[in-house]
Amino acid sequence: MSAFVINGGRRLSGSLRVQGSKNSVLPILAATVLISGKCTIHNCPRLSDTECTIKILRSLGCKVYRDGNSVTVDSTSISSSEISEELMREMRSSVVFLGAIIGRIGEAMVSAPGGCEIGLRPIDLHLYAVRKLGVDVEEGYGRIYCKVKNKLKGNKITFSFPSVGATENAILLSATAKGSTTIVNAAREPEIIDLCDFLNSCGAKISGAGESIITVEGVEKLSGCDHTVICDRIVSATYLIAAAVTGGDVELISANPNHLNSVLPLLEESGCDIRIRCKDVRLKAPMRLRRIDKIVTQPFPGFPTDAQALFTTLVSIADGTSVIVENIFESRFKHVPELVRMGARIRAEGRVAVVDGVDRLYGAEVFSPDLRGGAALVLAGLCANGVTKVRNTEYIDRGYEDFTDNLCMLNGDIIRKDISDGRAEKKEVKTRRN
Ligand code: EPZ
Repeated sequence: MSAFVINGGRRLSGSLRVQGSKNSVLPILAATVLISGKCTIHNCPRLSDTECTIKILRSLGCKVYRDGNSVTVDSTSISSSEISEELMREMRSSVVFLGAIIGRIGEAMVSAPGGCEIGLRPIDLHLYAVRKLGVDVEEGYGRIYCKVKNKLKGNKITFSFPSVGATENAILLSATAKGSTTIVNAAREPEIIDLCDFLNSCGAKISGAGESIITVEGVEKLSGCDHTVICDRIVSATYLIAAAVTGGDVELISANPNHLNSVLPLLEESGCDIRIRCKDVRLKAPMRLRRIDKIVTQPFPGFPTDAQALFTTLVSIADGTSVIVENIFESRFKHVPELVRMGARIRAEGRVAVVDGVDRLYGAEVFSPDLRGGAALVLAGLCANGVTKVRNTEYIDRGYEDFTDNLCMLNGDIIRKDISDGRAEKKEVKTRRN
C-alpha cells in the first residue's frame, strides 16, 4: 500500500512524451482473442489494468510476452471461454472480452465487471447487442453464460445511448459474423477508431468508425498484425492541467490535439496560452486562472467525463464561480469532499457542482475515490500550500504510467511512499530536485 506525498507550490516546466491510451489498449488486447495468430501491440502503457488484461488473456490460454511497451499476444491455442469472477471484478473493461470470446469460440462465461465506482454501470446494452447477433444469454448465480444459437449473423443494432464498451463489443462480435451489421448511435471516441484500425489491419471490414453509424461486413477469418496504440488524451489533459494549476509551462510531445478539441478551448477560457505544433501541445499558464462558465460532460466529441475531476481541481483555484454538469455517470463527484478538505469551496448535488474559486488550497491527507478523482487530488497537491498525502494510489496506477517520475521530471515535488506498515514507513525516493 502506498501514498503519494506532494510538496506543493512548484511551477511545472519542461516537455513530456505522452503514454499510450489505456482506454484504447484494453479493448485492442481483448480483440487479439478473435485472431488465431500473433499480434504485437506497441505503445502499450505499463498499468495495473493492462497487467490485469494480460492475466485474463493468459487464463484463456493465450501466450503473452511483454518487451518494454510492446506486448505480443499469440492466441493460436486459446483453450478456455471462461473468465473467473475474480478477474472480472478487477476492472470494467473485462466485459469487452465477451464479444471477442464469443466471436472466436461461440460461447463465453463471464460475470458483471468491476471497475471504478462512479455510477451504476449496467451492461444491458452489451447484452442487447450480443442477443441481436444471434446469441443466447443466460444470467444466474452471478454468472452470465452466452452461446451462439446457430451462427453469428449480422444485424442492425440501435443503441439508446452511445456506450463506449457496448459499441466495442458489437464491433468485436460482428467482425466475424455472417453478413453485414449496422451499429446506429455508436460511440465516436478516438479509442473506437483505434480499435477499428487495429481490426481492419487484421483483415476486418469496418467502415464509419468515429461516426454515429458504423458498418461491419463480417469476414471468415482475421490474421495477426502489428499495431501502435494512440496516445492517451486523458493523460494529456492531466499533465496540461498540472501545468495550469501550478502556473507552469509544459509541452506535451505527440499529444494529438485533435483528440483534445473539447478540452483545449476550456483551458484557453481559463486564461491558459495554448500553442500547437503538429502533434505537440504547449501550455503556458496565466498568473491567475479564470473561472470557466460551464463544464458539461458529453459523449465524444463532447467534453470527456474522464477529465471532469481534473477540471474540478483547476476551477477550484480559479477567479470566480464555475458550474460543472456530469451527464455520463451518476456518482462521479466523490473527489469533491476531498478537495473541500484541502480548502476548496464546492457544492455538489446530484449531477451538478458549483465551484467558487479560492486563492489557495492547503495540503492535507486525502483518499483517492477512483482513478480520475485520485489524479485530481494529485493536481491539487501540486498547487497547494504545504504537504499533501494522497492515499489509495492503486486507483491512480490503473491509468497513469510512471506518474511520480513524470511529474518530477517536470519539476514537481512528489514521491511515492510505502505505507503498508504505518509505523515503519519506508521511503521510496524518486528524483527530487533540490
Ligand atoms: C469507457 O467506460 C471508459 N473506460 C471510461 O473511462 C469512460 O468514462 C466511459 O467510457 C465514458 O467515456 C474504458 O474505456 C475502459 P460507457 P464504459 O459504456 O465503456 C451507461 C476512465 O477513467 N451504460 O460509455 O464503461 C453507463 O452506466 C474510465 O478511464 C448503460 O446504461 O462507458 C454510463 O452511465 C472510467 N448500459 C454510460 O452508459 C450499458 O450497457 C456510459 O458508459 C453500458 C453503459
